[in-house]
Amino acid sequence: MSGSNLLCVLTGSIAAYKACEVVSQLVRRGHRVRAVATPSALRFVGPATLEGLTGAPVLSDLFAPGAALEHVQLTRWADLVLVCPATAHTLNRFAAGLADDLPGALFLAHDRRKPWLVAPAMNPQMWSHPACVAAVDRLREWGVRFLPVGEGRTACGEDGAGRLAEPADIVAAVEAALGAGPGAAAGEEGRTWPVFHPDGAPDAAAPRPRLRILVTSGGTSEPLDGVRVLTNTSTGRTGAELADHLAGRGHTVVLLRARTAVPSRPPVREETFFTFADLDAALARWLAQESFDAVIHAAAVGDFAIDTIVAGGVARPAGDGKLDSDVAPVLRLRPNPKLVDSLRARSRNPDVRIVAFKLTHGAGPAEAEAAVEALFLRSGADLVVHNDLSHRMPGGEFPAAIHGPDAAPPVHCATRQDLAARLEQALLAAAPAPSLNP
Ligand SMILES: Cc1cc2nc3c(=O)[nH]c(=O)nc-3n(C[C@H](O)[C@H](O)[C@H](O)COP(=O)(O)O)c2cc1C
Repeated sequence: MSGSNLLCVLTGSIAAYKACEVVSQLVRRGHRVRAVATPSALRFVGPATLEGLTGAPVLSDLFAPGAALEHVQLTRWADLVLVCPATAHTLNRFAAGLADDLPGALFLAHDRRKPWLVAPAMNPQMWSHPACVAAVDRLREWGVRFLPVGEGRTACGEDGAGRLAEPADIVAAVEAALGAGPGAAAGEEGRTWPVFHPDGAPDAAAPRPRLRILVTSGGTSEPLDGVRVLTNTSTGRTGAELADHLAGRGHTVVLLRARTAVPSRPPVREETFFTFADLDAALARWLAQESFDAVIHAAAVGDFAIDTIVAGGVARPAGDGKLDSDVAPVLRLRPNPKLVDSLRARSRNPDVRIVAFKLTHGAGPAEAEAAVEALFLRSGADLVVHNDLSHRMPGGEFPAAIHGPDAAPPVHCATRQDLAARLEQALLAAAPAPSLNP
């Protein structure tokens, strides 16, 4: 692990000073480090600092006299490239394949069998901007490995995700990518399913994959006539909370929600549905066209469709005109198929993780357990989230328990936020380790 050749690329973020600490730690651990810094990065840290730390001149100019083919030699020399801190600008340049500066040329010229690590640092709005989300997705597809960004107060005074990872975690991730060290061990451990960190803390040293997640939320409606519907009281709050949390953590999220359900915030992509048939068709389309890592099926799908409506002894089609207010109609219902049962079969990704939901009312532990078990058996879900109507809190908060397919005790979540965090952990633990090589 020690004694590797490392190329550290610094770009123009206020977090560049932390990269000096990373470089310093890597040198102290016996690695040979060369620093590349963009002109913007050199506005934040001086070349003398980087030269002093690495013992070699800093490279910044693609056309520097005497160093014209340096980018090709450097990529041959380096066992690993670390971009730290990585600005939004540089990520987007990499994703566009531009090579008119030294980092861009290095990126295209590098031997893609070797690790290329990126530690982003930026304002939360920039990090969640669709341009950056798309760039990160694209780079991941090309085998670039991303370190998780930190959350909290950023240098610009805003709260959210986008802070540079801590120097010690970056050093651990570099050494893990070189093939040993604590980060590698943690990465191996994370491949089992499902895994819950007992303290709820994500493994900071392990690179966190970005998942593609489809969430459904809200209730379906069945029109009786042109103005009346048969529906349920689902608000869609849980689905929106899950979608917002997951998108805020950098995952790519699509939310299929009922028209009347609580909306999510950008960058979640949304599509609305009204009836069971709408949701059924939307699921079929999305699951076939995109390869989702997980589907969180939180929608309250109507169990019954309207078969016939008989008013005044006359059968009439559902959904049209307006039923006479003075004549009580007789409805005949027919069961809807269970959409959750067909999610995996419809999915382009056969390894998609399915999270199903089970709502009970006043169920004791044995009854709840039996209902969850039946859902596992029927749907082939990987996780089942159970909640009971009688546990709903006055403010609307809704405690839930996440059940795995094995005998492990369920994980209790007091709030929707807690549920979102625990589900993310479980999905990440089940995700394949991010690939270093395309
Ligand atoms: C004080 C200051 C702090 C900045 N911090 C960041 C940052 O943390 N992340 C980021 O993406 N851009 C940041 N920028 C903007 C970049 O420096 C700017 O987009 C620059 O063009 C990036 O160029 P480079 O990626 O080639 O280094 C900052 C700009 C200033 C003036």
